[in-house]
Amino acid sequence: MIPLRVEIEQVLQSAFGRLGYDAAYARTVRSNRPDLCQFQCNGALAMAKKVGKAPREIAGDIVALLVDDTRFSRVEIAGPGFINMTLSDTYLASYGSQSAHEEPTWDSTGKTVVVDFAGPNVAKPMHVGHLRSAIIGDSLQRLFRTVGYNVISDNHLGDWGTQMGMLITELQRRMPELPYFDSLQTEGFPETPPLTIHELETMYPEASKACKEDPERMKEAVEATDELQRGRPGYLALWKHFVALSTETLHRDFSRLGVHFDHWLGESFYMDRMGRVVEELTRDGFVYESQGAQVMDVSRPDDSKEIPPVMLEKSGGGFLYATSDIATIEYRMKEFSPARICYVVDKRQALHFEQVFRAVRMAEIVSHTVSLEHVGFGTVNGKDGKPFKTREGGVMKLAELMDLVINRAAERMEESGIGRDASEEEKNEIARMVGIAALKFADLSNHRLSDYVFDIDKFSRFEGKTGPYILYSAVRIKSILRKVQAAGFSSGEILPFRHDSERDLLLELGRLGDVYEKAAEDCAPNYLCDYVYDLSQVFNRFYRDCHIMKEADTALRGSWISLCQWTLKTVEDVLSILGIVVPEKM
Ligand code: ARG
Repeated sequence: MIPLRVEIEQVLQSAFGRLGYDAAYARTVRSNRPDLCQFQCNGALAMAKKVGKAPREIAGDIVALLVDDTRFSRVEIAGPGFINMTLSDTYLASYGSQSAHEEPTWDSTGKTVVVDFAGPNVAKPMHVGHLRSAIIGDSLQRLFRTVGYNVISDNHLGDWGTQMGMLITELQRRMPELPYFDSLQTEGFPETPPLTIHELETMYPEASKACKEDPERMKEAVEATDELQRGRPGYLALWKHFVALSTETLHRDFSRLGVHFDHWLGESFYMDRMGRVVEELTRDGFVYESQGAQVMDVSRPDDSKEIPPVMLEKSGGGFLYATSDIATIEYRMKEFSPARICYVVDKRQALHFEQVFRAVRMAEIVSHTVSLEHVGFGTVNGKDGKPFKTREGGVMKLAELMDLVINRAAERMEESGIGRDASEEEKNEIARMVGIAALKFADLSNHRLSDYVFDIDKFSRFEGKTGPYILYSAVRIKSILRKVQAAGFSSGEILPFRHDSERDLLLELGRLGDVYEKAAEDCAPNYLCDYVYDLSQVFNRFYRDCHIMKEADTALRGSWISLCQWTLKTVEDVLSILGIVVPEKM
C-alpha cells in the first residue's frame, strides 16, 4: 500500500516531467485547508526563478495537463501559484479497494539502526526516566522494523560505575568475614550470592547516602571501583552476583511491560576495549593530561557555547561514562555497520552525547555518513511539578508503578461498567492490558522532549486522548465485526460514498505509510499517537453515519465493512508499534 499522497505526487511528477520541468518540484503535501482541497503542490513557486517563468504560468501548465484526468474532481491554481487538488470519489474508492488489504511498502530496507535504550543501572532502583526510555525506545525499535530497517536493540546497562564500589565497600562493613574482601584470595569464591535482591536494593540507598555524606567513604568506594575495573578477583566475583541478581529482576519487569531487547551489553562488556580505545586515541595525538586525568579536546573554533574536554581516564586510573560510550560506538561500528545509532536517553545528558559524538567523529571511529542521534526526552513530573516520586518521596519501582496503573484501570472499568460480563480472570487480564496501554500511551503521546505530569487519574480515563479510549474504540470495531460475521454479512469493494465521513475515513487511512515514515525520521512516536487518535475520531463519525447492520444495499454495506476492517487493522498495527495490545472484548 502506497500512501495516497505519494500516489498523487507520482501523478504530478510525471506531469512535471512531460512539460520538461524538474520532477523534484512535484512535492505534494496533504492540504492544511481541507475545506479548499485535499492535496497541494507548491513546486511552481519554488522553481519559478530557475526557469524564468511566473509561478502562476507554471502552475497553469500543470493544471492544464491534469484537468481532464479522471482521478481528480478539481485541480486549480490558487493564490500566487499553488496547485490545489481534490480527488474524485471514484478514484478514492478504487484506491481504497486496492490498498485495504495491502501492507505499506518501503524503500529504506536493508539499513541497520542500533537503538540504545532503557539502560538502567545495576543495583540502583530503576526510575521513571528509565521507564520513559524503555517505552519510547521499544516503540522506536518496532517502528524502525516496520519501515524496513534491520534493527539492533541494546539495553546498555550501567554495570561498571561507582555504585559497584559503593556496594562492595558497604558489604565489607556489614560482613567483613566474607572471602571476597581478601586481596590475596584469587579463586574459590562461593557460587551463591551472599545476599538477596531485596537486601541488595535496600543496601544501595544506604551506601549511596553514606558516601554522599562522608568524603572518606566516597573515596573508599571510588578506590574499590577502580580495583574492580582493574580486575581484582574477589570484587569481580561479588560484582557478578550483583549483576546477576539485578538483571533477573530487570528481565522480569521488562517482560511484564512487554519490552524486548536484542542485547543486554552493559558498560562492563566493553571493559577491555576502553583501555585500548584510550591507547589508540593517545597514539593518534588526541589525548592530553589535565590535572592528572587523561582528556580529549572536542571543541571547535566556531562553537557558540563552550564544550568542555571529554574525560577518558581519571587521575588514579579508572574509566568514565564517556570512555565506555566511545568504546561502545567502536564496537557497534565494527560489529553492526549501522547507518544510524539512536540513544534514547534523558535530554539532560545532551552535553555528554555531544562530546562523545564529536570525539568519535574526530578520531574517525565513525564516518560522516553514519547518523548519531541523541533521542532526548523530558522529565516525568509529579502533580507538584517536581520529578515524580512515591508518596514517601522515594523512587518508585517499575513493578509498583505497573501495579498502580493496573489497579487504577480495574477501578475505572468497574466505575464505567466495562468488562461487566467478563469472568474474574478475563477482567484481570483486560485491566492489565488497559493499565499498560494507559501508561504507554500517556508517555508516548507527549512529544518526547516535553516534560509531562504523571497523572494516573487522567491517563486511565476512557474519554479523551488516552490509551483506554483508543483501546475501547478498537474493541468496539472488533465487536461490530463480530456482529457482522454472525449475521453472515461480507465485505466488498469500496464504493463511492454516501456520506462525507466515509471519504474522510478513507483519506485518513490512506495516510498510514507517510505517518510511519515521518515518525521514524524524527524518532517521534507521538505522531503515531496523534494519528491513531484522529483515526478513532473519524471512525466514530463514520460509524454514526453508516448503519452497517441496518443497511439494505448489500454492495454499500460490503464497502462499509471493508472500511471497518481496514480501520481495525490500521489501529491494531499502529498500537502494536506503540507496544499496546488490543483485547478481544472489553
Ligand atoms: N545508565 C545510564 C543512566 O542511567 C543510561 C545509559 C544510556 N546509554 C548510553 N549508551 N549512555 O543514565
